[in-house]
Amino acid sequence: MSIDVVILAAGKGTRMRSDLPKVLHPIGGVPMLGRVIDAAQQLGDVAITVVIGHGAATVREQFADSGVQFVEQTEQLGTGHAVAQAIPNFRAGATVLVLYGDVPLVKTGTLQSLLSASDRGPALLSVEMANPAGYGRIVRDDAGRVQAIVEEKDADADTLAIREVNTGILAAPADLLRQWLPELSNDNAQGEYYLTDVIARSVSENITVTGVRASDPLEVAGVNSRAQQAQMERALQHSRALALMNAGVTLLDPARIDVRGRLECDTDVSIDINCVFEGEVTLGKDVHIGPNCLLKNCRLADGTRVEANSIIEDADVGAACTIGPFARLRPGTQLADGAKVGNFVETKKAKIGRGSKVNHLSYVGDAVVGENVNIGAGTITCNYDGVNKSLTEIGDGAFIGSNTALVAPVSVGAGATVGAGSTITREVSADELAVARGKQRNISGWQRPTKKS
Ligand code: UD1
Ligand code: CA
Repeated sequence: MSIDVVILAAGKGTRMRSDLPKVLHPIGGVPMLGRVIDAAQQLGDVAITVVIGHGAATVREQFADSGVQFVEQTEQLGTGHAVAQAIPNFRAGATVLVLYGDVPLVKTGTLQSLLSASDRGPALLSVEMANPAGYGRIVRDDAGRVQAIVEEKDADADTLAIREVNTGILAAPADLLRQWLPELSNDNAQGEYYLTDVIARSVSENITVTGVRASDPLEVAGVNSRAQQAQMERALQHSRALALMNAGVTLLDPARIDVRGRLECDTDVSIDINCVFEGEVTLGKDVHIGPNCLLKNCRLADGTRVEANSIIEDADVGAACTIGPFARLRPGTQLADGAKVGNFVETKKAKIGRGSKVNHLSYVGDAVVGENVNIGAGTITCNYDGVNKSLTEIGDGAFIGSNTALVAPVSVGAGATVGAGSTITREVSADELAVARGKQRNISGWQRPTKKS
């Protein structure tokens, strides 16, 4: 069965009060429309058409490489009119699946059940709501067969009492919609072309409509305001936190973690409060993350500890390393097993060898550091001359005294020692001692100046 997905994303999203089109606002770090496209693409052989209107250029640009087609709805005349804009993209014999760019947590499995119910006629996704206000009501006959969807504004008191509502998500044979959509009328309370009117039309032609009930209201919830966006974000984060704990991760407070990408954890990982994970993050066995850390696109191997207030981005960290507190590992940092990067240390494009230590207040950028090197407090790799970046190389077992400036390009050989406070501009060979600082002079009997009267 070929599936033609139509995603409605033309509305203004007035209540967001934003310059950014609503469907580009993120949930879990991904624009809402991106989530819907992902869920649809996981169905397999799909052709996706996104109906855009408000902010069309911005939406188009952001999803230019996503493999979807766009059609523009210049005036928002209703959901039926919106889907009709995609008719030229319908393939003969296909099933059309209608989704919404602002209903971001819909699950592929639910869409699959809807699609399997729609091979002969329309299938709609409904949900029971304690408070159905604002939604279209599902009207069934005495035998429980779906008869119509009645919009709130067109409903009488009896209909308003129905708690089964339309999620808006619908699947139907393309060949029926191609015929029905252009024949919709806008003679209703809102003067709109309602997609929902295809249900009564189908019933009038003796084509059975199947109602599929969604079990999880969150999955079919839409976002119309910042408050709803935040609510949905919390709900998503809560479910992610539960999944992590079910997989054996200790979360000191499941309400204070944010995963805005994919976090994969081996056993007995523990994560303290207020940590944010972005992109793809992989944590090995027994990894500990202290409070207030941000980890983005990184891999930390078994037994590594990240202490409070550290930031790690695009980095690869070996086993049994110690990072922080207050460390910043910038892109291109690679720590071998047992390396230590301590407080107020910044690294960038730095390879730090097994067992090496950069414990305090240093900047190590564009550097290759060997094994068991000790880099003293306040050491700086001067990697930038204002135009070009240059490399600093430090051999195994070298000792760099505190407050050293290593003016790159420069290398310090294995086993070499650099005296504290040195400014190193020339190569230091293996096992040499380099001291590059003013010699100490002591003047005895020194008289301090006295205050003039
Ligand atoms: C629609 C359904 C209602 C259902 C509700 C679920 C109709 C007539 N009613 O209500 O039964 O309970 O969704 O939320 O379908 N859009 C366009 N172009 C348009 C109109 C809408 O792209 O011309 C998009 C909007 O951006 C939005 C979505 O379609 O993402 C739904 O539109 P909205 O006006 O919120 O739907 P309702 O009329 O409230
Ligand atoms: Ca409307």
